[in-house]
Amino acid sequence: MIDQPENNPLLRVRSLKTYFSTRRGWLGRSVPVKAVDGVDLDVTRGQTVGLVGESGSGKTTVGRTVLRLIPAEAGEVTFDGEDLLGVSGSRMRQIRRRMQMIFQDPVSSLDPRMTVGGIVDEPLKVHMSLSRQQRRNRIGEMLERVGLADRYINRYPHEFSGGQRQRIGIARALATEPDFIVCDEPVSALDVSIQAQILNLLADLQKDMGLSYLFIAHNLAVVEHFADIVAVMYLGRIVEIASKHVILGGDGYKQLKHPYTHALIRSVPIADPTAERQHEQLPGEVPSPINPPRGCAFHPRCPLTRARAAEVGNGETMEITTRGETVRVCRACVEITPQLKPTGTDPAHKHACTLRQQDSKSDAPAQEA
Ligand SMILES: Nc1ncnc2c1ncn2[C@@H]1O[C@H](COP(=O)(O)OP(=O)(O)OP(=O)(O)O)[C@@H](O)[C@H]1O
Ligand code: SF4
Ligand SMILES: [Mg+2]
Repeated sequence: MIDQPENNPLLRVRSLKTYFSTRRGWLGRSVPVKAVDGVDLDVTRGQTVGLVGESGSGKTTVGRTVLRLIPAEAGEVTFDGEDLLGVSGSRMRQIRRRMQMIFQDPVSSLDPRMTVGGIVDEPLKVHMSLSRQQRRNRIGEMLERVGLADRYINRYPHEFSGGQRQRIGIARALATEPDFIVCDEPVSALDVSIQAQILNLLADLQKDMGLSYLFIAHNLAVVEHFADIVAVMYLGRIVEIASKHVILGGDGYKQLKHPYTHALIRSVPIADPTAERQHEQLPGEVPSPINPPRGCAFHPRCPLTRARAAEVGNGETMEITTRGETVRVCRACVEITPQLKPTGTDPAHKHACTLRQQDSKSDAPAQEA
């Protein structure tokens, strides 16, 4: 392990880009899919960073690139002080013992031909120098740790419920005593009644083992209970990041800056009919990362730029066509690619909205969006 001052993050990601290549058109030209396009993120020891955003925003790609399961196009990923994108394959295999992943779908992520014991044993064989008996003991410990009896060791995944299968996936991820786990929507395929049990298990394990999580979720309610920091992703970039209390705080979300974060929160169904917040569908869908909108990628869907364009002179605005509709937006939103910058009051709270950054002197909340 490399010496590291306490306040340094365990995982540090800077300007991370992951591009896929896809063939398009009748000539089959190769065009880049900019799935992740400049992400900065820190995960401190023992902390959970929640990564949220609509489908296709690039959350899974961030998690997989950080673990080097897919190659990065550019950027830096530092784990415990070591540059992950620069290390050799054999060094990466050693480091991977400390970095694991829990997958969304406990059915497809477990090999149906392997017994539970074999599934949990696999990473032990690859990463740990243990005797057969030591591995057997460790499998038993892990199963017990996740709430499964040792007698299940010779059973197959299809003999278990969805929640139990996810427990097997967690036992496998924990077997090598990792420090950091990417949890990619670990409860979204489960019944609501089971979700809380798995979340409680992950929280207990974090406390007992000092784990750090990058916790990917669609569902903001899940993140609300679980994360310390929440990062909101849109079309390959983080558009707002702050403590959970800022993003999901009980103050009517007045501290939020980015119109997309607002829209995402308003799109969560509300169980309480007396709640002040209204449930609103997010208009449109995430555009393709093959040909993202210019400037701020959210501009075709953003209510703030439309509202502002109606207030200011025509010189500062322009017309765009989106989903067959012609609308007027602020020119700055189309011409400037906003960068993630701290708000004036809280250096840990950053957002990437050009108009809000221009407003920052008045520090108005994003409520009008
Ligand atoms: N192997 C691949 N080849 C080409 N494009 C890909 C590949 N994997 C992902 N993409 C594209 O990259 C973008 C980001 O995908 P990703 O799976 O990271 O999003 P996500 O936020 O995890 O979505 P979801 O919430 O649906 O899981 C999407 O447009 C997706 O279609
Ligand atoms: S930069 Fe413009 S389009 Fe983007 S979120 Fe801010 S107001 Fe909306
Ligand atoms: Mg995903």
